[in-house]
Parts: sequence; structure tokens; C-alpha cells
Amino acid sequence: MSDDARMVSGSRRRDDRDNLALRPRLLRDIVGQDSVRENLQILIDAAKNRQEPIDHVLFYGPPGLGKTSLAYVIANEMNVNIHITAGPSIERAGDLAAILTHMKQHEILFIDEVHRLGRAVEEILYPAMEDFKLDIVIGKGPAAKNVRLNLPRFTVIGATTRLALLAAPLRDRFGAQFRLDFYDIQAMEHIINRAATMLKIEIKPEGTSEIARRSRGTPRVALRLLRRVRDYAQVRADGIITGPVSGEALELLNIDHLGLDDVDRRILAIIIENYAGGPVGLETIAAAISEDAATIMDVCEPYLLQLGFLARTPRGRVATLHAYEHLGIPYPERGSSQPTLF
Ligand SMILES: Nc1ncnc2c1ncn2[C@@H]1O[C@H](COP(=O)(O)OP(=O)(O)OP(=O)(O)O)[C@@H](O)[C@H]1O
Ligand SMILES: [Mg+2]
Repeated sequence: MSDDARMVSGSRRRDDRDNLALRPRLLRDIVGQDSVRENLQILIDAAKNRQEPIDHVLFYGPPGLGKTSLAYVIANEMNVNIHITAGPSIERAGDLAAILTHMKQHEILFIDEVHRLGRAVEEILYPAMEDFKLDIVIGKGPAAKNVRLNLPRFTVIGATTRLALLAAPLRDRFGAQFRLDFYDIQAMEHIINRAATMLKIEIKPEGTSEIARRSRGTPRVALRLLRRVRDYAQVRADGIITGPVSGEALELLNIDHLGLDDVDRRILAIIIENYAGGPVGLETIAAAISEDAATIMDVCEPYLLQLGFLARTPRGRVATLHAYEHLGIPYPERGSSQPTLF
């Protein structure tokens, strides 16, 4: 199954586009992530006070937790323009130079998937972030000349799901770095209710909590499930999302009470049934269930780790007692996998 077909994937799907209207606009619209919010507020207030651009900011964490939303929120709070780009779309150094020369004082450049910038592009970005200088080469051959241009003071906001892949010198140039974590149930309920109000969906508290529990602490997943449950309520019930309606709709989508779908359960089942609970390497798991290893690592694993269903060891992934229990498979007695000695 492609990641795009999964209801509980935190990654963007084609049908997520109209979530745009639900994007939080200001810091006070952000639910949860208390420490990130508080720190951002200080960053923003201090910068405004000094009439300076804010320091470069890096957001990292699993997909769908609000990295892009926060970049927009910062731009709104600072009341400046935000230019949107992404690591893979800046192919050559010249592309970045063109973007940078169009930046105005205090504006924001948002670089999504910042870990996917090429080497040559990064080389241009370093002095731009550090000294607001752009180094370019004019002409070719022996007549070529290095020219250093001044750039306006601007802010780079980077986002990545893979902090480990970010080059250390690039990472160091972000003065403020925030890790986004999965949201707790209360925050998820709040986000779902806010969206329901905006979309004019009638939802009961039990309906909200059913969706919240199965959304993997990920706002993007919650908003997507809310829409599917709304469809179900319209077609199979009287349009009102009650607890049972929510439960039935999500059951029909094969999303269990913890928000795991077939892919998650297959990952656990493979480790348990084919590899005696592990350890087993990520690539082996990916091949066994015909999934992309990167998807497993970005989308499935963080949540399974958070639930305590999976453990990472130097030799590979291990299924825990909780994983066995969730799948209803008896946990082997300690040492039972050892060959019997005669
Ligand atoms: N704190 C929040 N409160 C309310 N809604 C939120 C919050 N965080 C995210 N959302 C909603 O969740 C959706 C996904 O958020 P966003 O696109 O910012 O995630 P992301 O971290 O950038 O994901 P990716 O890694 O895939 O780029 C958005 O539509 C946004 O409306
Ligand atoms: Mg994003």
C-alpha cells in the first residue's frame, strides 16, 4: 500500500489540501506544544521589540505535527511576507541566489525538507544566514570574479522530519531549534472540536474523543479522520458524529482503537511471527511487507516507539510485550527461543 493510501499516515496526501483553511493563523490558535509556543512567543516579542527579524528557526519532528503551520504563524505574528520553498526544489546554487536576491528586509524564507538541500546550495546558504552576504561568481574561466553582495536581514525557517540527515554546519546556523512532539489527547480533542466548528460539523464529546484516540497524536491525521467520519455520519446516520458513529466509521477504515492500521500491525506481526520478536533490520521489515523503508521510519516507527510497542536496538527493531498483547499473541517465556541443550 502506498503511503498516500493510508488514512493514518502523518504525511501529506493529495486530499489534505483543503486543510489550509483550518491552519492556525496566530500563536494563540496553536493548541498544545506548550513549550514551543512559549519559546516562540519570547522570540517574536523580543525581535519585535528590537525591530529586528527573528533568529533563524528550525522545526523538526514527525510529519503532520505543525511545522509548516508554525512557519506561517511566525510570519503572521511578525507581519512579514513568507516565501515558501523546499530542499528538493532548489536544484542549483543559482536557484537559491535568485530567491535570496528577491528577499526584502525582515522577510521569511521557509525551506521545507531542509535536509534535502544539495551541497552547493548549502554553501551559498551558510554566509547568507550568518552574515547576510551572497557570494557569487561572475564570468567564466580566468576572467571569473568573486563578488560578495549584501542581502537584507531576513529569517530562514527550516523544517525537517529527519534531523539526523541535516549537515551539522547548517544545523548550527539555526539559532532556535524546536522539536515537535505528538500531541496529547486533550490537545487533539481541542483541535478536532475547533475544526468541527469551522466546518460546521455537529459532533458529540464522545465522537471527538473516539477520533482523538485514533489520530496518533497527529493533527493532520485527526483532520483527515474527522472528514471521513463526517461522511459516514451523513450516509449511515443522521449526520451527527456520536461516539458509536465515530467508532463504527473508524473500524470500517480498519483503524484500531490506538490508531494503528494494517501497515502498523503487519510491521509488528512480521517481527513477531517471522523473526521471533526481533531484533530485525528496518530494510528487512520493509522488504517483507513491501513498504518503503523511509515511510516506515518517518511515519510508522515514531508512533510505535511512542506507544512502547517497538524498541530500537543496535541490531535492529524489537517487538515489546505490549506489541504481543495488542496483537493477541502470547509473549514467549524468556529463553524459550534458545535451542534446547541435550
Ligand atoms: N497545533 C495545531 N493546532 C491546530 N491545527 C494544527 C496544529 N498543528 C497542525 N495543525 C493542522 O494539521 C495540519 C498539518 O500541519 P502541518 O502541515 O503544519 O504539518 P507539518 O509538520 O508541516 O507536516 P510535514 O512534515 O508533512 O510537512 C494542518 O492542516 C494544520 O491545520
Ligand atoms: Mg510541512
